[in-house]
Amino acid sequence: MTESVELQFDTEIRVASDPDSIRQAKNLLGKGQLVAIPTETVYGLAANAFSPEAVARIFDVKGRPANNPLIVHVSSVKMARDCVSAWPDDADILAEKFWPGPLSMVLPKSDKISNIVTAGGHTVAVRCPSHSIMKDILGQCGFPLAAPSANLSNRVSPTKAEYVADQLSGRIPLILDGGACQIGIESTVIDLTGATPTILRLGLISQDQLQEVLGEVRLAFEIGANETLKSPGQLRCHYSPRARVILVEGSWEDLLNKSDKNAHVIACESAPSNRDPDTWHEMPKTVQGYAKKIYETLNRCDQANAESILIQPLPLGSEWDAVRDRLSRASMN
Ligand code: TXA
Ligand code: MG
Repeated sequence: MTESVELQFDTEIRVASDPDSIRQAKNLLGKGQLVAIPTETVYGLAANAFSPEAVARIFDVKGRPANNPLIVHVSSVKMARDCVSAWPDDADILAEKFWPGPLSMVLPKSDKISNIVTAGGHTVAVRCPSHSIMKDILGQCGFPLAAPSANLSNRVSPTKAEYVADQLSGRIPLILDGGACQIGIESTVIDLTGATPTILRLGLISQDQLQEVLGEVRLAFEIGANETLKSPGQLRCHYSPRARVILVEGSWEDLLNKSDKNAHVIACESAPSNRDPDTWHEMPKTVQGYAKKIYETLNRCDQANAESILIQPLPLGSEWDAVRDRLSRASMN
């Protein structure tokens, strides 16, 4: 799908903490070029959100379908209000409580945001990130940045600069290396344009946390079948590694005994002695630790040319829902 994009850049990877690299990023973005930038969730592929030409490059480089809208990153509520035509009380409440941070709010778009950003729709997702590098760049640019995750369409979101380079080298001029992303999975997306606030994508800011400040909050997939799909991010096949992902159900021991010894395993316990430790990926037992490592682990399996990945069932509990969601999507490739 993306093979037609010319590999026209000698992509530079620069340490993000160097002020000179921030200046370079600002200059490139000012000229309508793309830069991969770390955020607290995953790396983003950024362009000037007010430039339709720059934003169109994002779709080309990622091979992203034109019907999948982008999140616009802002440095303040003031900048967010410039991108939207209505700012309801709920937006104020959420910004006060969760910004800067991993929450994107869908609101009616303003005229400054082109149809390319919103995939032709009347709404725009805005997010104020907390990562210091992204904040610095937004501050220096003075315009908002449209930024999807910095991966090729339908592939795993990158949580380290090297994973951005694996997918986008030659396609963009600059990747800023800010180390590993703290959160590791994408932001929660909440739609504030309907009668009841609705979560379109789960993230580490949970339904419970949102309900605590807003009252009733629905999950999009609880919406009746004849209501329309609001967010293409809900499409089933998404966030996939190349390897076949198998979410284990039933007896874990049985499956291990029957499975190919070359299969990679992702589990919250250490490798049994009869397993090659290189194909065994032990995960943290907390949801924060697991989320931070899961995409990196899927990327590692790809790099090791794994054909299949077995994943141990996650603990029960709604705090694991966002991770459960990403794994179930990864298993649908
Ligand atoms: O954490 C994140 O959100 C990362 C970092 C870079 O900020 N970004 C990210 O962007 O995950 P992306 O493009 O990979 O995912 C954006 C999601 C998609 O599911 C998209 O369909 C949804 O947000 N979305 C964006 N704008 C929308 C809108 N106006 N209405 C409904 N859904 C929208
Ligand atoms: Mg993405």
